[in-house]
Formats: sequence, structure tokens, C-alpha cells
Amino acid sequence: LYSQWKRFYTTETFSSPTVRSLLGSNMEAGTHVTVNGWVRSVRKQKQISFANINDGTCVKGLQAILNPEQAEKLSTGACVELKGTLVDSPGKEQGKELQVNSINILGECDGTFPMQKKRHTFEYLRTINHLRARGNAGGALLRVRHAARQGLQDYFAKNEFTQIDTPILTSHDCEGGGEVFKVTPGSVTEKNGQDFFNKPTFLTVSGQLHAEMFASALSRVYTFGPVFRAEESLTSRHLAEFWMLEAEVAFINLQQLLDITEGSIKHTIRHVLDTCPEEMEFFNQYVGKKDKDKNPLLLKRLGKTLDQPFVRMTYGDAIDMLQQQPKKKFQFPTTYGSSLQSEHERFLTSEECQDQPVFVTNYPSDQKPFYMRENDNAKEKPTVACFDLLVPNIGELVGGSMREEREKVLEHKMTLAGMNTEEYDWYLELRKYGSAPHGGYGIGFERLMLMLTGFENVREVVPVPRWVGNCKY
Ligand code: 4AD
Repeated sequence: LYSQWKRFYTTETFSSPTVRSLLGSNMEAGTHVTVNGWVRSVRKQKQISFANINDGTCVKGLQAILNPEQAEKLSTGACVELKGTLVDSPGKEQGKELQVNSINILGECDGTFPMQKKRHTFEYLRTINHLRARGNAGGALLRVRHAARQGLQDYFAKNEFTQIDTPILTSHDCEGGGEVFKVTPGSVTEKNGQDFFNKPTFLTVSGQLHAEMFASALSRVYTFGPVFRAEESLTSRHLAEFWMLEAEVAFINLQQLLDITEGSIKHTIRHVLDTCPEEMEFFNQYVGKKDKDKNPLLLKRLGKTLDQPFVRMTYGDAIDMLQQQPKKKFQFPTTYGSSLQSEHERFLTSEECQDQPVFVTNYPSDQKPFYMRENDNAKEKPTVACFDLLVPNIGELVGGSMREEREKVLEHKMTLAGMNTEEYDWYLELRKYGSAPHGGYGIGFERLMLMLTGFENVREVVPVPRWVGNCKY
């Protein structure tokens, strides 16, 4: 049977080689190849013309050498199939070029194509999101995003985690912030007034409570999916739909949770640097040009992040540091109990900790959600065993905590938070039947992408962004 079907199980490529594989291969000059892609640019000259062809698998693209007649057929943006012969590039970087024999135009493109060969602003590119990935920045971003996801998953696979798919539709507001999107079926009219689930239902803001369900059985789990927040914050850090990697682990303490968080982020950075060198060099140049004087180059910054341990300090330590800055004028108070604002976070990461990520732990209980584990030995005010990971130029990248595993304490906290404990009976039961000490965290994937690429706005690092007032496509 196998021999009959073997031809369908071939490991050979299923179409012509990608531009990336062609450029990276050691195919000899003289080899005949077929290349598919889009024309990025055409340089027409009297005797000999050049076109850059890219199928979106790499930054550089393939240089095609054409005669004037062939060049006349090509326009920027057109989709083409080129047949030709590989030749050695005469340029400094010894690569390959394509001496074109024949051109098949698969899709014409006229002069109104907006992605012409010049630098567009990111704001403008967002308005043509359907074409954004045809440019170098948009394409490189998607490939790095893919690699980052693989890096994260690789870390968890290597550390014996099981990936769980948590639901998108839920009846809970995990973070208790009331920033939920309510789900109403299209068939519901005011007249019949029926909800589909006979109870208010929302798009999830976090998969954490469900992840806890499974950490209480499989010890180490993670979930990776889209979450939704009806936040009206029009900032460069907030989306209405974003992706979150949430890990949940039994039998650990807070310091071990920080180790896992740091390990998963460093592993992901390493994976991206190893698998996307061309893209990362591209982003490095982009960030370097813009911020040359202010910031170290992206690759230097990431290298430093990998080489040194993340700083760890308590909320109390952070407040002390802020208060010991007589010369520094902060807009918001720095008294113990007040919440850390962006200006404080910026100071802690960029100045106090010299551009290294900082874990701030053990915040006052009243600043944090109901599920966080109360510390037993709080001095001035009750605190919880939690952390925020703050990163230079980005702010909060990760939020996490030990979870309150004592049934009675948890029930009390829920009541104080004004929650309907009946609705969360299952969550309390996890504490009744063999409750395990456990903790977890959520990485905002788009903010991780900012860290990896040097982009400054989360709208640039998600394929199709959604933010308040914007749901095109
Ligand atoms: O701090 P948050 O709200 O934590 C939780 O949701 C926990 N339940 C996670 C857990 O412990 N399993 O969000 C986690 C991270 C933030 O640190 C931030 O990086 C990102 O999610 N984030 C956003 N990213 C983009 N747009 C928004 N509106 C975001 N809100 C939070």
C-alpha cells in the first residue's frame, strides 16, 4: 500500500523553490529554475534591465536580469512566474541572480499600486493593511511573529508543558476590570429577549481561570490565543484584540515562576535570532537609524537582555528607589500604596536598571485582581505574591502571580470584590478537591513583538489590528 501511495508522501517541495530557499541554496550557476513572486521594483536601462522579485519569504528578494523587451512587460506589484538560469552575482555579496528566459504575468498591476519603492509611514501602511505585508517591514514582521510563536512553544514543549485550548466564549470576567465585550447572537431581538446561553456571555479577556482548571490536573499547561478587551485606551500599547501566552504551573513558588517567565522570554529571543537573522538585521538597521543617539541598536539591546539576569525588586523597593530621587520631578505620587505609572516604570527600567527588564513583585493587594495569593507576612499593607515584568520603552510585558489556593480565603476575596461566588463554584471547587499551590503568567504577545522588532506601536506588529474605533477588514 505504501509503495502505491508513496508519491503523495514525497518530501520534495511541492512547487517551484521559494526565493529564500533559492538564495540560500548552493545550486550551481547554469541551473534552470522557475520563480514565482511579486515585482518589488523595476530598473529599466537601455541595454539591460533589472527587477527585484520577492515571494514574501525573505527581505532581500531575487534580482532578475532582463532585456528591454522583457522589462517593458513588468510593473511594480505585478504577480509573475519567471523562468530562467541562475548566474553568479557580480556584486560584493556573492549571491545568485536570475537571467530571465521567459515571463508569465499571473496578475497585472497598474500604476495606482500604492506600495511603490519608497519608504511609507507606518500610519499610512495601516490604511492599506491588505497590502502591508507586500513591503519589507510588513513581511519581515509576520515571519518574525511566526518564529516567536515557535520559540515560545518550543520552550514549553522542552519543559514538559501541555498546550490547552481555552474557550473564547465565557461567562467570566477574569480580570474583573469590566472591560469585556458582551456577545449577543444576531438572532436576538428586543422582542424575544433571549440570550443564546441563557446568561450574559463575553469574549474572553484571559484564559487564566481555565488554564488553572487544567494545571490542577496536568501540573504544567499553557494556552495561547486571542483575548479581547473593550479598553478605550488610544495608546501605542493597547489593542482591543491581542494574543496572550498564558502559562499555569503547579508545585512552584513565586521565585520559580519568575525563573520560568525569564526562561521563556530569553528562549524566544534566542530562537528568533537564530531562525530569522536576515529579518532581525533589517529591523536592527531600521531602529538604529531612527534612534541612533537615544538607544543602543536593537540587536545590541537584545544581546544584553540575553546575557544578564532580569532585575528583581519588590514593589516596596521600587517605591523606595523612586522616593530617593530628589532631583527627579514625577507627575504622579510615589507614596507607598500608589500605583506605578508609566513615568515610574520608565525610570525604573531605563535609568535605575540600565535598560534591563525588571520584575516588580509583591504589590499591595488592593491594586490587583481577586485570584492573587495573599502574602502571609505583609508588613505595612496586605500584599499579594505577584509580579509585573517591566521592559524599557514598552512598559508591562508580563503580568503574573501565585494563585490563592485556600478555598476560604479565595471565597472571602471574591465576596469583597463583589463577585457572584455561585457563578465561580467550579473555580472554588478546584480549591476544595486537592488544591495545589500554583501560579502563572500572561505574556502580551504584541508587546513581546515590540521588544523583538523595535517597532513602537502594537498596531504594527499584529496582522490585522483592532483598536477602539477601528475594525476594518
Ligand atoms: O496583566 P494582564 O491583564 O494579566 C492577565 O490577563 C492575567 N490573567 C494573565 C495571567 O496571569 N495568566 O495582561 C497580561 C499582559 C500584559 O502584561 C500586557 O503585556 C498584555 O497582556 N496586555 C495587552 N496587550 C495589548 N493590548 C492590551 N489592551 C493589553 N492588555 C494587556
